[in-house]
Amino acid sequence: MGSRKRKAEGSTTDADESAVQTTSSAPREGDAAQRERIAGLRERIRYHAARYHRDDDPEISDADYDAMVRELEALEQQHPELADGDSPTAEVGAAPSELFAPVVHAARMFSLDNAMSEDDMAAWHQRLLRTLGATPTGYTCELKIDGLAIALTYEHGKLVLGATRGDGSTGEDVTANLRAIAKIPKQLGGAPPAVLEVRGEVYMPTAAFDALNRRQAEAQARLFANPRNAAAGSVRQKDAGVTASRDLSIWIYQLGRIEGGPALGSHSETLDYLATLGFEKNPATTHVTTPAEVMAYIRQAQLDRGARAYQTDGVVVKVDALAEQRELGFTAKAPRWAIAFKFPPEEQVTRLRAIEINIGRTGAATPFAVLEPVFVGGATVGMATLHNADEVARKDVRIGDWVVVRRAGDVIPEVVGPVTSRRDGTETVWQMPSVCPSCGSAIVRAEGEKIARCSGGFTCPSRVREYLFHFASRGAMDIEGMGYRTVDTLLALRKIATPGDIFFLTPDALQGVEGWGDTSIGKLMAAIDRARARPLANVIVALGIRHVGSSAARVLAQRYRDLRAILAAPEEELAAIDGIGQVSAASLRQWADEPDNVALVERLFAGGVIARDPEPAGERSDRLAGVSVVVTGTLEGFTREQAEAAIVAGGGKVTSGVSKKTSAVIAGASPGSKLAKAQQLGVPVLDEAGFVRLLEQGPAALEREPEPEPEPEPEPDPGLA
Ligand code: IVH
Repeated sequence: MGSRKRKAEGSTTDADESAVQTTSSAPREGDAAQRERIAGLRERIRYHAARYHRDDDPEISDADYDAMVRELEALEQQHPELADGDSPTAEVGAAPSELFAPVVHAARMFSLDNAMSEDDMAAWHQRLLRTLGATPTGYTCELKIDGLAIALTYEHGKLVLGATRGDGSTGEDVTANLRAIAKIPKQLGGAPPAVLEVRGEVYMPTAAFDALNRRQAEAQARLFANPRNAAAGSVRQKDAGVTASRDLSIWIYQLGRIEGGPALGSHSETLDYLATLGFEKNPATTHVTTPAEVMAYIRQAQLDRGARAYQTDGVVVKVDALAEQRELGFTAKAPRWAIAFKFPPEEQVTRLRAIEINIGRTGAATPFAVLEPVFVGGATVGMATLHNADEVARKDVRIGDWVVVRRAGDVIPEVVGPVTSRRDGTETVWQMPSVCPSCGSAIVRAEGEKIARCSGGFTCPSRVREYLFHFASRGAMDIEGMGYRTVDTLLALRKIATPGDIFFLTPDALQGVEGWGDTSIGKLMAAIDRARARPLANVIVALGIRHVGSSAARVLAQRYRDLRAILAAPEEELAAIDGIGQVSAASLRQWADEPDNVALVERLFAGGVIARDPEPAGERSDRLAGVSVVVTGTLEGFTREQAEAAIVAGGGKVTSGVSKKTSAVIAGASPGSKLAKAQQLGVPVLDEAGFVRLLEQGPAALEREPEPEPEPEPEPDPGLA
């Protein structure tokens, strides 16, 4: 069910337009268009809610209705100065007031002023300072819970009334429903006062919300737009049985009224006192003393937002000392002693300019939306994923549409859906192109596959670019300096065309390339050389075989120790390995049989990639008999212990001091004085790649010429930045 309530829950929302509240702060200039849009949306939402609920004759789809509500919510979040207690977003899922008896609040339920930035917070601190003549002695920082505000009244410890906030002065009596929420104490413990009224937020944990929507979908009932609407809808309907089934919870954050209780000096003391009566204190609530600590709390709360079990839309900061609160008092709308720092909205509406496709490293063609840039989830978003062609069709997103864009936390921005009520007929339906925009090869979608792919293989520049970037990335070949920029340069200059070509790059080939000097060339060459010796699991990851991720790669490396053996293994043998399975085995086999890939692997070997792991310690051999080695500095693929164990396992000897008798010094990063000593004595020095060769080949590896050290070069190099 969407923002509108289901008939079964008896809703006939029809907001009373005469009750529109005005806000105290004047709207900013330049927001006229937004203001108009908000007003228009409110009107249309009310109209369609009435068509649906009152007339039983909806004109538009639920999805369209929900998109309008989402857009209005986003705009209202962006423009708190245009807030309206009577907005349909405050009313969504609302039962008609006749459903519940009105409750006049003994003390008005105030709203909060909003802060949207650090500057707003600083301005608030300034106002506090001006009134108090000093900074407050402390603050309580709380999460702003995204749910439904309610007030609970207890007499001699017994719950007698539960009410919604309503317009702040008059709410609705929802006692029966609130009784059905397990987390709300019906009888207080400790030493309850004669009269107690507490305020808090009823909310639906995100997991409960997801489960509810799954059940709704199964029952072909409407889906809820978000946990807040679900919580509000579950409380503001007539059947307490429905409330009970909805897994609601509550956090209490404010004392409304107390008679016959203890003397309380601060808000944090109050919350602790309420805890003795049975109201659990939100564990994130913290007492701090400085504005800097307040900001630190806000930043952390924002980072933790995605990991919480319930939705938060900001942080509420309250001056802690009640004496200071009294001195600060209230404006017409809100206390001066508290402020709500609002997190940036995670959804926004913007125009979809185009749909383009991106060819990934496996050739997968992924459609993405090119958007009119919009600030959402704390960042400006100009592109958003559309996942695949089926998703575009399912959501019916068209080029030119107004769309809801969502960006939550670090998640990739996505297009939620179109606002079809804003279509004017000029929008065009998108189709997956039949040829790759990058290489012109056919885009094909195999039977039963969700994903369409470019068939160009290594001839497709987009695919090669992504493949190279992945190949060189951390966890794969880890070639430092080989990011998109370097990859693009090397591709553009045709220095490389496939990953194997990387290992045939020479300093000469890079000489004279703009932005590349001897230092950067030397660094890249050294990084490539180190990559030759990457552990087998990294090499497998680098190959980018579908369904063979890093954990499967580790399993394969441990089992076979050698890339050739893996690529030659029959499918059944691979599938039988614990941790591999049929899908990965089939994919691996298919990959290994493809001529392009066979050529790629051969070229890697020809370029000096080892792709073989040393035998584990314990399996002794005598390949290193008579070889005495000193290890200095940090190696990437080995701990010091592993390196020494590998030498010993090969029959070699590890010594701590360098002498003329030392066969080789293995120098990792930040080597000590042993390196200088070795150079002084003319003892061969090996880097990590050389060390791996030594383990593999024995003393023959010592006969190779070491790479010349690059000359230092003064200028910074943009090519490797
Ligand atoms: S204190 C007089 N604390 O935010 C102060 N409100 O925008 C009353 N809310 O109506 C509110 N978490 O529904 C307070 N920790 C918190 C809150 C909180 C959520 C809601 C509440 C209020 C709205 C104001």
